Amino acid sequence: MKVKNVACIGVGTIGHSWATLFAIKGYNVAVYDMSPELIKSAMERIRSSAEFLADKGLIAKNDAASALDRITLTESIAECVSDADYVQESAFESYDVKKKIFSEVDKENDSAIIGTSSSGLLMTEIQKAASKPERCLVAHPWNPPLLLKLVELVPGEKTSEETVEITYQFMETLDKIPVKVKKEVPGFIGNRLQAALWREALNLVNSGVASVEDVDRACWAGPGARWGIMGPFLTLHLGGGPGGLKYHIDTIQHGFNEYWKTMDDWKQIPYHASLKAIKGVEQLPIIKEKNLEELVKWRDNKLVRLLKIQE
Ligand SMILES: NC(=O)c1ccc[n+]([C@@H]2O[C@H](COP(=O)([O-])OP(=O)(O)OC[C@H]3O[C@@H](n4cnc5c(N)ncnc54)[C@H](O)[C@@H]3O)[C@@H](O)[C@H]2O)c1
Repeated sequence: MKVKNVACIGVGTIGHSWATLFAIKGYNVAVYDMSPELIKSAMERIRSSAEFLADKGLIAKNDAASALDRITLTESIAECVSDADYVQESAFESYDVKKKIFSEVDKENDSAIIGTSSSGLLMTEIQKAASKPERCLVAHPWNPPLLLKLVELVPGEKTSEETVEITYQFMETLDKIPVKVKKEVPGFIGNRLQAALWREALNLVNSGVASVEDVDRACWAGPGARWGIMGPFLTLHLGGGPGGLKYHIDTIQHGFNEYWKTMDDWKQIPYHASLKAIKGVEQLPIIKEKNLEELVKWRDNKLVRLLKIQE
């Protein structure tokens, strides 16, 4: 199957970024959101994202303009998905919401692949709402999908191998870097790693080891800088010198084992830890200097430079 027409359901933070990406890569994109205000502002937000890419020299100015011509705003899920070969659902992160949408899409279009942007829900549960569960999968992007290349493809128990393969190839046409999750787990790969780091970041602040500002700094200026170009396995392999990862495990790992013994294993976020984190973030100098829009621009400008290095 060759994808030509894409439907985007939900045009919030993630959905509008997906829609921009699909359109600049030459696909026809139909867009729907249950919020009339968001639909009204969708074209302006997509235009601004496409122009950002053009300003950064990542696409030609003409391509940014012609991408907008490929976008159609629609007023219902039925209208949005009627001609779609691929549907990207980016609505709220809830089984009830996603199952309702999957069931409706399933009734209105009997051949499209249906992907969800879900950050960690299980497809085995969502696809129960579809009469053809074999064509449903998770296609989890990283924010913003327009810039970050990773997409995690997660099949449910009833997803066919063919659906995963077609989606994989389709994602490659978008210059995405797809990874296949072989065994379904909540949070997939990236968010599980992020959740493990987040727990310890909270723990360090909560137990008074360091401030929010210094924990953030110790992440991006140290290990995070390396994680921008390689993952934890290769990082530690290089850290082991000529002996590589084996040397790390035989010797340096001893220290890591000791750190593990002193780490918390909270199963939910303690209220006092969340209060300290929120207060700490409010005191960050950058939060006082820039509003949300300026922060997003600041982040995206830096991401563009990082992505050039990653190529
Ligand atoms: N924000 C992130 O960093 C991030 C990253 C990756 C994946 N995701 C996932 O992407 C999805 C969307 O997240 P977001 O951050 O864009 O949320 P968001 O709140 O910004 O956008 C969700 C949009 O879905 C719309 N919506 C809700 N129910 C709907 C329905 N029944 N029909 C049509 N539209 C509906 C809302 O009006 C809203 O515009 C979630 O599943 C989330 O877990 C989020």
